[in-house]
Amino acid sequence: MSDTRSITVELGERSYPIFIGSGLLGGGFDLSAHVRGPDCLVVTNETVEPLYLEALLAGLTGKQARAISLPDGEAYKTLETVEDILDTLVENGANRDTTVVALGGGVVGDIAGFSAACYMRGVDFIQVPTTLLAQVDSSVGGKTGVNHASGKNLIGAFHQPRAVLIDTDTLKTLPDRELKAGLAEVIKYGAIMDADFFAWIEDNLEALIARDAETLAAAIQRSCELKAAIVTEDERESGRRAILNFGHTFGHAIEYCQGYGDWLHGEAVAAGMVMAAQLSTDDAALAGRIERLLDRAGLPTRPPAIAATDFMAAMGMDKKVQQKQLRFVLLRALGDAVVTSDYDTSRLHAVVEAMS
Ligand code: NAD
Ligand code: GLY
Repeated sequence: MSDTRSITVELGERSYPIFIGSGLLGGGFDLSAHVRGPDCLVVTNETVEPLYLEALLAGLTGKQARAISLPDGEAYKTLETVEDILDTLVENGANRDTTVVALGGGVVGDIAGFSAACYMRGVDFIQVPTTLLAQVDSSVGGKTGVNHASGKNLIGAFHQPRAVLIDTDTLKTLPDRELKAGLAEVIKYGAIMDADFFAWIEDNLEALIARDAETLAAAIQRSCELKAAIVTEDERESGRRAILNFGHTFGHAIEYCQGYGDWLHGEAVAAGMVMAAQLSTDDAALAGRIERLLDRAGLPTRPPAIAATDFMAAMGMDKKVQQKQLRFVLLRALGDAVVTSDYDTSRLHAVVEAMS
């Protein structure tokens, strides 16, 4: 077991800790100390349950813990699944002291968090993320929700967890492709907020891909510190938090045109980040540096063949469109991002044309 790293997300009375280390599940960490009431409901899925549920329960001694296991997949991130969880809470006599614990990737975390936000107008919630993407992004910051037939994450609530427990050992069983999709988000933090961290990733990429525990813990810690700083500054995304969507306007268009589920989100964001960097500046060196790192990480650096007109139309549906004007997260320099609708339209068309 390595030393446990900890970070605080500073949000006044809703502040909470993030613990990062190996060997935290299986009894190495007393999670029960973060459960206020006598009982909790663990929400997991059919893939993660056999791998980690027993180990999680070992940290909940003294608490009455029940579990519900969801089918695996984004297709189940729906209100129907939330209803199943709420039914389970009611059937178990859960009350306002009950804690919901999410054990799994971002899909489980988003569904469980939204269920916790809804039950009795909000009960405690703990995140135990088991994918790299969930560890560096979705488990921190309080965005919870489910999909609607008309769009992803259309139904949701801000509901901050009381604690986040990240056991880097869980990444040992994560499929390669999922690990790399998570690395895209790690690289994103360096690109938008911290040039030194970007350089550190360049130097440590092989160790990250080899899943070296200490290197992963360091990358997760820095990513969570950067995310925590943004969330503290702009919890409800009224401004700066939107820089976390670097590459996402292009990425969402790729996912939409390609059909959700074909490319992983992190893969679409990777190609999207290269396009956003190209739109940001004439400086080919900046986009080239980002592209090289993503390529070394085994991520796509250009979209699949999509007609430019379809690509532009899909971007027009992006959440960041304001008064019919597309907004992008662009880089003023490596580690310095801004959300803006002030960009060169002809360059945008050139980037999309060149990539289509
Ligand atoms: P995911 O939750 O679907 O997990 C990916 C796959 O890995 C699943 O099959 C899962 O069962 C499996 N898995 C999870 N942990 C594992 C482990 N340790 N070993 C083996 N298999 C494991 O995908 P994800 O990338 O973690 O999350 C994507 C979701 O997160 C999307 O729904 C997205 O909208 C959401 N998201 C939310 C936020 C937020 O701020 N709330 C941010 C980014 C993404
Ligand atoms: N994943 C983007 C955010 O949390 O704001």
